[in-house]
Amino acid sequence: MFGPVINAKYKGLEVVFRPPRRDELVHIGKGMSNFSTLKYISIGARPEEDRIKWYEAHIDRFSGLKNDLVWVAQPKGKDISAVISFFDIKEWKSAHSGITIFNNDMLGKGLGTLSHLLLIHFGFKQLNLSYIYGDIVDGNVASVRAAEKVGYFKTGYTFKQFYVDGNYLDLLHFIMINPNKAVDLSNNAPISIEMRASIEIVEEKLKLAQKCLTYL
Ligand SMILES: CC(C)(COP(=O)(O)OP(=O)(O)OC[C@H]1O[C@@H](n2cnc3c(N)ncnc32)[C@H](O)[C@@H]1OP(=O)(O)O)[C@@H](O)C(=O)NCCC(=O)NCCS
Repeated sequence: MFGPVINAKYKGLEVVFRPPRRDELVHIGKGMSNFSTLKYISIGARPEEDRIKWYEAHIDRFSGLKNDLVWVAQPKGKDISAVISFFDIKEWKSAHSGITIFNNDMLGKGLGTLSHLLLIHFGFKQLNLSYIYGDIVDGNVASVRAAEKVGYFKTGYTFKQFYVDGNYLDLLHFIMINPNKAVDLSNNAPISIEMRASIEIVEEKLKLAQKCLTYL
């Protein structure tokens, strides 16, 4: 299903996160086939007619499922530039996060960070998740940097899981814990240095998100 409308402001960037309209699917579908930007994610380029059918089916699937949440991101004065999602949501427990900026003009301008803030805040404050996780293909420097900056830490990798530009690449696994649930999750065992550092960053990002986001 789609997430609620949320206005967001961060370092001069103004973005509305909202459900897509049906008449925007072609634009989004084209964006999601922008291979130069999206080579590290599994969607990739698709033939025109397949792409549109696939995307519409995907949207229908999302709107019918309760364990997925999708927003599109529209920066002020621009077309829709990104798709933000949680999938495999397990109530009160966990969700897999996904951020896909397909408008090259919007890369490196804070939209990824703002999208992360939305997912962290919505995931931990609204869905009450215990943890959020995500996978990043080794070599996707921007994605790793954006994820670590908001508090994700690496838990491991799957060997040669992804094929990009003629090479098999590892898939890196990242996680962040809800600071309010860290003690429960650790069963009172000592928390690792990486987890403690991550929790501190996430606490700080939750405060930042509170300032940046307005739920409508
Ligand atoms: C990964 C992605 C979401 C990052 O979003 P973004 O808006 O470009 O990133 P931001 O502007 O918020 O920057 C976040 C951090 O990453 C760094 N960064 C961004 N692009 C970078 C790049 N190409 N190389 C190195 N660092 C980069 C920024 O400098 C910033 O760190 P800093 O504050 O220390 O300077 C975006 O690049 C994207 O959607 N890429 C295509 C799809 C994809 O790979 N999705 C992730 C799949 S797991």
